[in-house]
Amino acid sequence: MSLITHPNARELSKSVRATVLVFKDPRSQELLSRIERLAPSEANTLIIGETGTGKELVARHIHHLSRRGREPFVAVNCGAFAETLVESELFGHEKGAFTGATSNKAGWFEAANGGTLFLDEIGDLPLNMQVKLLRVLQEREVVRLGSRTPIPINVRLVAATNVNLADAVVAGHFREDLFYRLHVATIRLPPLRERPGDILPLAEFFIEEHCRRLGYDRASLSPDAERKLLAHSWPGNIRELENAIHHALLVCRHQVVAPGDLHLVDMRPLGPAQGQVPHAVSGVSGVAPPSLESALLALFEQNVANLYEHIEETVFREAYRYCHGNQLQTGRLLNISRNIVRARLEKIGELTKA
Ligand SMILES: Nc1ncnc2c1ncn2[C@@H]1O[C@H](COP(=O)(O)OP(=O)(O)OP(=O)(O)O)[C@@H](O)[C@H]1O
Ligand SMILES: [Mg+2]
Repeated sequence: MSLITHPNARELSKSVRATVLVFKDPRSQELLSRIERLAPSEANTLIIGETGTGKELVARHIHHLSRRGREPFVAVNCGAFAETLVESELFGHEKGAFTGATSNKAGWFEAANGGTLFLDEIGDLPLNMQVKLLRVLQEREVVRLGSRTPIPINVRLVAATNVNLADAVVAGHFREDLFYRLHVATIRLPPLRERPGDILPLAEFFIEEHCRRLGYDRASLSPDAERKLLAHSWPGNIRELENAIHHALLVCRHQVVAPGDLHLVDMRPLGPAQGQVPHAVSGVSGVAPPSLESALLALFEQNVANLYEHIEETVFREAYRYCHGNQLQTGRLLNISRNIVRARLEKIGELTKA
């Protein structure tokens, strides 16, 4: 089986995209059968994969295939909360536990009780929270902040990471005991370039989905466009492919996607830990791009209002476009954290447009 439709995924997820999984390449089929074998077990699971490889989608699928499938699936991004908030978000708090705790609040563990808790970017969890997480997994109970009463918890944990956790352990950023606790069942999602048999089926799937959403007639790929898709290295993986198709549908003519409609930026296929720096794209070959200094000088002379803000906004907006709308890659490109990228994009209204 290579196409799976989730009957209730539309309710589970904000995106209609998550309703179907494409697994055509032999490597993906192997992966799928591993997922199907692991899912019904109660084992905590670690999903490892580069950005955009489908970690969250696979986590939902595991949940769906398990006997917890009708219970809650709660997804939390460990990198999305300030360090001081992570604890009360995960474990909950009692009224008055800290300034601003005006009522009792259940944490994510309680919200997921009976079901599956998906901890995304687990490598971002602060070390002191790692200790507490380990304790919850061992004791199977949580204690809300400001309380002494343990609450029994029956949660299956699925965690995801796009950094090599073993390296993080060596570097002292991740606790070894938690690492082994999570490492019981692991699923490695290969990057898209290592499962080329998925590229065209995924492209077809996204064409169909987006044409339907946009109210367009069904478009197709020209043979040259197919070749271009197959030759690309896909550093942003499936999310990059989806964005490329979406963009191509907006600009293509006569419902045929030609190679020129596919805006693919070639980056070297590096692992996430190595820091991806794209090749500089020079405009016309042989012509040096204008220097940053001269561009600034021109702006100074134009007397632009709110110049600093304007420059900062432009940096974020252009980097985000260059990375096909991928926040993580934008962060890597600018060498700042994804959270900062997200906050800035939100501030300048880039995210609400999507
Ligand atoms: N096998 C698949 N079939 C169809 N769509 C997929 C598949 N895998 C991923 N996608 C789609 O690709 C996009 C990225 O997937 P997802 O968000 O699960 O990736 P991720 O690994 O969690 O990415 P990140 O590391 O950036 O959080 C989503 O829109 C998802 O629906
Ligand atoms: Mg994700």
